Amino acid sequence: MAEKVKSMYVCSECGMESARWYGRCPSCGEWNTLHEELRQPVAHSAVPAAGRATVQRLSTLVPEGELRSETGLHELDRVLGGGIVKGGLMLIGGDPGIGKSTLLLQICRHLGQDKKILYVSGEESQRQIKLRADRLGVDNDNVYLLCETDVGTILQQVEAEKPDLLIVDSIQTVSLSNVASSPGSVTQVRESANAIMHAVKGADIPTFIVGHVNKDGAIAGPKVMEHIVDCVLYFEGDRNNSYRILRCIKNRYGSTNEIGVFEMADDGLHEVDNPSQLMLSGRQENVSGTCVVATMEGTRPILAEVQGLASPSGLANPRRMATGFDNYRLSLLLAVLEKRAGYFFSTLDTYVNVVGGLRLDEPAVDLAVAIALITSLKDTVADSRTVAFGEIGLAGEIRAVSNIQARVNEAARLGFRRAIVPFDNLKGLKKTADFEIVGVKTVREAYAAAVPAEAKKA
Ligand code: TYD
Ligand code: MG
Repeated sequence: MAEKVKSMYVCSECGMESARWYGRCPSCGEWNTLHEELRQPVAHSAVPAAGRATVQRLSTLVPEGELRSETGLHELDRVLGGGIVKGGLMLIGGDPGIGKSTLLLQICRHLGQDKKILYVSGEESQRQIKLRADRLGVDNDNVYLLCETDVGTILQQVEAEKPDLLIVDSIQTVSLSNVASSPGSVTQVRESANAIMHAVKGADIPTFIVGHVNKDGAIAGPKVMEHIVDCVLYFEGDRNNSYRILRCIKNRYGSTNEIGVFEMADDGLHEVDNPSQLMLSGRQENVSGTCVVATMEGTRPILAEVQGLASPSGLANPRRMATGFDNYRLSLLLAVLEKRAGYFFSTLDTYVNVVGGLRLDEPAVDLAVAIALITSLKDTVADSRTVAFGEIGLAGEIRAVSNIQARVNEAARLGFRRAIVPFDNLKGLKKTADFEIVGVKTVREAYAAAVPAEAKKA
């Protein structure tokens, strides 16, 4: 018992530590993720001492003047809750090549006009970064570059240069020389992030840290990092199309529901002011198996097309697959449709896809998914100028959702003429002459309202 542990096995997926090796992590169940790491006390010699702490009465504290600075990218500012907070530590995660370095260099273009920025890269050479900066039009004198992977050296430079903003690209490439583990290992990532945190918090320097994601899409060394930083942002998108979505999953200074939408072009990332229009571009009208939903992303309503496909299956257990929608929720909806509304999917392979790379987690999307699936099943066409939203309960009832007026307004703004909404939401909705609102109580009613041919039959 009292024996000193010299090495530990650490799971690279969930950060679990164990004294012995397992082929499968007992904590997260991933295979082959336990790696040996040497344990020794870590001396934070590179960390400058923070000021002496004193206890103060909360009510007498006066927040300093302007705490936030805008990045010049409104979509990023929105996600951060209004700009970069002084002393804030922000983690940006995303697949390789999604555009994290590009986004951060673009921030330099605007902020570099009156702020000193230190961009530390452990991934690219100065020449590579210079070429990219030229392409992105970053040419002000306040942006400094450091290609270095040793955290001690980096923090020395930070102390010497005292930048107004620090960017570390990426946490997996930097390492502390007094920690034995290799760069990118859980211990190294945690200790490096801790050292950076201590240094920049002491000096009140806002800092962006880039983190790579592992095969499940979580930031490598994930949990340890997420506790250390103030904001966790994910940069997502399909590499086959040019749209990128910046999503906030933790924010100590604002809401976490906001998303920012960008488009990757030859000259860098462009902000998308009108995401609904983008999500609906290329939509085919008069085909079966599609329905438009008005969903809320934070405070902003966005229209998105949901596609459903039901086709005969040769399998004993037919396939259920969803992209941009929760798989379990799909199984549950299919069970409700079958049991409560009499639409039979049990011998069919069923697929759901949200067009444009959005991930819709909100229950209000249920109704659009159901309509897309039923129209595919029946080979009918839902009216292309109609949006639908509402949560489907286990009894097959359509339940009220929030922010109904904002959703309806967005649909009307984009030229839609009708909305199928939960009946309980009708109260308090403003009626307008050129926009029809249909309140429904059951899935069958909703389907009849969505498909004009069906309504005529009834
Ligand atoms: P990058 O920012 O290097 O990704 P990350 O840092 O997340 O790994 O983005 C690289 C990709 O972006 C690459 O595939 C090329 C593309 N890109 C453009 O399409 N236009 C541009 O102006 C830039 C700078 C990159
Ligand atoms: Mg990069």
